[in-house]
Amino acid sequence: ARLAILLSGRGSNMVALVKAVHSGVLQNLAEVAVVFSNKPDAPGLETAAALGCATASLSSQGRKRAEFDAEVVEVLNQYRPDYIVLAGYMRILSPTFIRAFAGRILNIHPADTHQHQGLHAYEWAFENQLPETKITVHLVDEGLDTGPVLAQHPVDLQGADSLAEVERRGLAVEHSLYADTLARLIRGELPNLTPETATAAETT
Ligand code: GRF
Repeated sequence: ARLAILLSGRGSNMVALVKAVHSGVLQNLAEVAVVFSNKPDAPGLETAAALGCATASLSSQGRKRAEFDAEVVEVLNQYRPDYIVLAGYMRILSPTFIRAFAGRILNIHPADTHQHQGLHAYEWAFENQLPETKITVHLVDEGLDTGPVLAQHPVDLQGADSLAEVERRGLAVEHSLYADTLARLIRGELPNLTPETATAAETT
């Protein structure tokens, strides 16, 4: 399967995915078609290029969401991606974007998306002194962190006495869970949940 990895920042999840493609659970299952950023100066883009990935960017600064997303869809389509893998991509996707890749957009969220959505999930877990948080990989629909959950994995936070420690423990889980979940999805081991069928399943 061809992956388009989208990021806006540091790109540690992107690095974990690229490594899994090169010599881990995604070997012989996936290739990185492109690493794309809405921030041309995102550190993760440079890292991706250094890892040998094709990279592309378009600045979203000052752009209207729908117009910008239509251009991003065009750019991404040039790389014929099977999956759009959001890895710290700090944009809410427009309906046009979601429809262009319906059921094939994944995101990773550093909390249980049923309990916490949006930014600052590790701060939330730390400030509330949660004994555990859950990393979630989910399909993306038009809401903020609301799509069907593909996988979750707990992070033990007991004794984590700083935000940095919470993040360190969480990111370690993120990095393995994202690649593992993609591998299972590509192998056909996960139920074929599109956002639409998931809603139907929940209401019947
Ligand atoms: C991660 O915590 C991810 O769960 C969230 O954004 C952060 C991105 O970090 N969606 P990185 O750029 O992958 O290091």
